[in-house]
Amino acid sequence: MILITGASRGIGKFLFDKFIDSGEEVAGTFHSTKPEHENSGLYTKVDICNTANIANWINDIGDKLENVTLINCAGNNYNAFAHKSNSEEWSSVIQTNLIGTYNCIRAILPIMREQNFGRIINLASIVAQVGIPGTSAYAASKAGLWGLTKSIAVENANKGITANCLNLGYFNIGMIHEVPEKFQEVIKGQIPSGEFGQPENIYNAVRFLMDTEYINGTNLDINGAKY
Ligand SMILES: NC(=O)c1ccc[n+]([C@@H]2O[C@H](COP(=O)([O-])OP(=O)(O)OC[C@H]3O[C@@H](n4cnc5c(N)ncnc54)[C@H](OP(=O)(O)O)[C@@H]3O)[C@@H](O)[C@H]2O)c1
Repeated sequence: MILITGASRGIGKFLFDKFIDSGEEVAGTFHSTKPEHENSGLYTKVDICNTANIANWINDIGDKLENVTLINCAGNNYNAFAHKSNSEEWSSVIQTNLIGTYNCIRAILPIMREQNFGRIINLASIVAQVGIPGTSAYAASKAGLWGLTKSIAVENANKGITANCLNLGYFNIGMIHEVPEKFQEVIKGQIPSGEFGQPENIYNAVRFLMDTEYINGTNLDINGAKY
């Protein structure tokens, strides 16, 4: 079964639809964007900062939880220069992107360990590598995922569980649409391929990580050669 957090919009929704189309059993979460489509019944309202919400979601799925892949797509962003930033908004990015991801992993690991199988895929970002003004919270949260992922990988490798990060460049979906058009053109100009990535590339990489048990604890760059 495939669990996808943040499946109401953007990349999470794209992956949700792809896996449904390919006949997989999928459960997704939404937080503020209530899904209203034919597969809405496969969604649960979960705030990944709330451990009780996550526990209820996992408990409700119950016996269907076999051969679990957890794809952590839920995330948010806050742009501000650090010296002018609002510390609550700054912290909320860490709470969601890093601690929320940990919360989901923490909830599912005992089941994966008991079943001697699991795939954990976290969505990190090129932003943490490049250094972009105004992104200190987001960059810190995504760099934190690299360390989290590595530790989870080594703690659980002998239990048939892998944990990896997809280190995404700029994709033609989701958060990028919050960036003003003129800045989008500037970013595109800095990408050697000259284009934002298509979300199909993310799906292909997720599939690859699901199918490959000896790739563990890595950060897989998908970025059109941009660093
Ligand atoms: N798009 C890109 O180019 C890109 C590049 C690098 C990395 N990423 C990463 O990829 C992931 C998905 O990005 P995206 O572009 O698809 O983002 P998006 O369109 O902004 O979607 C974010 C998703 O996260 C959910 N979410 C936010 N806060 C949550 C919370 N506290 N609890 C539960 N769910 C929460 C949202 O749910 P609701 O709407 O229901 O509240 C939504 O489904 C993020 O981690 C992002 O950092 C994206």
